[in-house]
Amino acid sequence: MKFYNREKELNYLKTYVQLEPNAILFVYGPKSSGKTTVMLRVIKELENSNIVFFYYDLRRYATPTIEEFLEIFFEESDKKYLLNKLEINLKIFKFGVEKKFDFNNIKLNNIFNKIYEGIEAVIKDGKKPILIIDELQKLKNIYFNGGKSLLNELFNLFVHLTKVRHLCHVICLTSDTLFIEEIYRNSTLKNASEYYLIDWLEKETIKKILKEEGFSEEEVNYASNYLSLPYEITQLINNKKLGLSVEETIKQWINIEKDGLMYLLKSNKDRKENLLKILSKFNNKIKVSIDNFEDEIFDDVKFLIENEILFYDVINGIIKPTSIIEWWAIKEVLK
Ligand SMILES: Nc1ncnc2c1ncn2[C@@H]1O[C@H](COP(=O)(O)OP(=O)(O)O)[C@@H](O)[C@H]1O
Ligand SMILES: [Mg+2]
Repeated sequence: MKFYNREKELNYLKTYVQLEPNAILFVYGPKSSGKTTVMLRVIKELENSNIVFFYYDLRRYATPTIEEFLEIFFEESDKKYLLNKLEINLKIFKFGVEKKFDFNNIKLNNIFNKIYEGIEAVIKDGKKPILIIDELQKLKNIYFNGGKSLLNELFNLFVHLTKVRHLCHVICLTSDTLFIEEIYRNSTLKNASEYYLIDWLEKETIKKILKEEGFSEEEVNYASNYLSLPYEITQLINNKKLGLSVEETIKQWINIEKDGLMYLLKSNKDRKENLLKILSKFNNKIKVSIDNFEDEIFDDVKFLIENEILFYDVINGIIKPTSIIEWWAIKEVLK
């Protein structure tokens, strides 16, 4: 698979992981902007360094149960940390436990001690541990006996590992921007969290890539008004090979998004008026400041964010469509 650009993001993350841990890093951005891809690239490029990456991808799982969470994070072993054998092309690690947790008698503290011991063992071996959790919001609804939220307790542990003891970087990735908003307002994480946006590709970058991929000047100019996500470039190239013109492909994409949006409006008649009012703010503008959305309609804004029509960048205080194709689809619907 080809990997396009993202020099700036790669350099940021590669430098970041070498600095002393001081806060939890939240990497966020529109869905499919390439967060996972960039993170895995960082791990690959640093595979011969002294860093031990614990990388967990929760995207593969439906909302996990507590048992599944433990299966994902830990492996039975007499070592405190060990190579994840299921990953063939990447050197990533899991925490070790002597024997499987007894689910009936499990305490949060036991779990946290295991994580802590794993991290200390890495440091003792003269290496640097880094904990990365991809699509961390999937842990949101896991509760322990006694009602403690796993995620909240994990945040306490993460603050301890980073801000308090500077033992280990913790990097959390998510596409769920309403989750980022919760995090941003969470008091445990105040002054203990940092944010990094992996956004759409820039127009000039897209033009450069398309040119290198052999598209004509006319095609490049046309496509650069519509493309924003890396996988769209790959698909445009494939479709061209399959005999579909740039224009045809893009028209199809806009139509698909337009149909999806029309269906959403049709099946939510009670809020349709508000939804259209919100969408109309994007008719002439691709980015709208959060101050332009009145309180009365904010639930409907959230609805559009949950349905991945809009992307909410709480850190910069703006809302925009999830992609430029989505923007054109919104404009079609408003016609
Ligand atoms: N820099 C890139 N170059 C080429 N393809 C990419 C790049 N970044 C992402 N992709 C592709 O785009 C799709 C979505 O990327 P992914 O990393 O899963 O996004 P996210 O984690 O932000 O949702 C994947 O098919 C991936 O292979
Ligand atoms: Mg991802």
